[in-house]
Amino acid sequence: MRLEDHLAKILIPSDRLQARIYELGAQIARDYGDTRPLLVCVLKGGVIFMSDLSRAMSIPHELDFMAISSYGGTRTESSGVVRILMDLNANIENRHVLIVEDIIDTGHTLHYMVDTLRTRNPASLKICTLLNKQERREVEIKLDYVGFDIPNEFVVGYGLDFDELYRNLPYIGVLKPEMYS
Ligand code: PRP
Repeated sequence: MRLEDHLAKILIPSDRLQARIYELGAQIARDYGDTRPLLVCVLKGGVIFMSDLSRAMSIPHELDFMAISSYGGTRTESSGVVRILMDLNANIENRHVLIVEDIIDTGHTLHYMVDTLRTRNPASLKICTLLNKQERREVEIKLDYVGFDIPNEFVVGYGLDFDELYRNLPYIGVLKPEMYS
């Protein structure tokens, strides 16, 4: 089975992704300097992006992971009801925290993350997302770093899945409608 055959098109090729991630890494490194920020990856989708973003940042920083799950939705839509499956290892009090996401869609997941992490009194809390689907937003969220604004299409690859597949593609593709309808 070739995953590529399931795609209608490539939306963002690998070289554009990597060039933008390099720019984001440089900008984040300039903004945070010697403050030793903690990058928080939201599993699973954010893991590929965070590993490249981290390598594009030439400043001391730490990595941590959080798994949350939205439940009650469908296979293609999140419900807005979210719970923590795996919490951070780090104590984030007085730390500079940067949440790293693959995509912001309705905004419910991030809204929950921000609300939860804020109660732990970080020194700062910012958001970096590779992809932003503004058209689908239901909850307003201030995004500090955005890789690409994208249209409302069913995207997979570079961490994003459908039914747990396609995360390994090194680019962002649009899934053929017959694959999910
Ligand atoms: C995706 C993505 C975000 C969330 C965005 O995760 O990684 O966490 O959906 O959607 P929202 O803005 O509508 O809340 P998903 O729940 O698909 O889990 P995964 O990262 O394990 O694929």
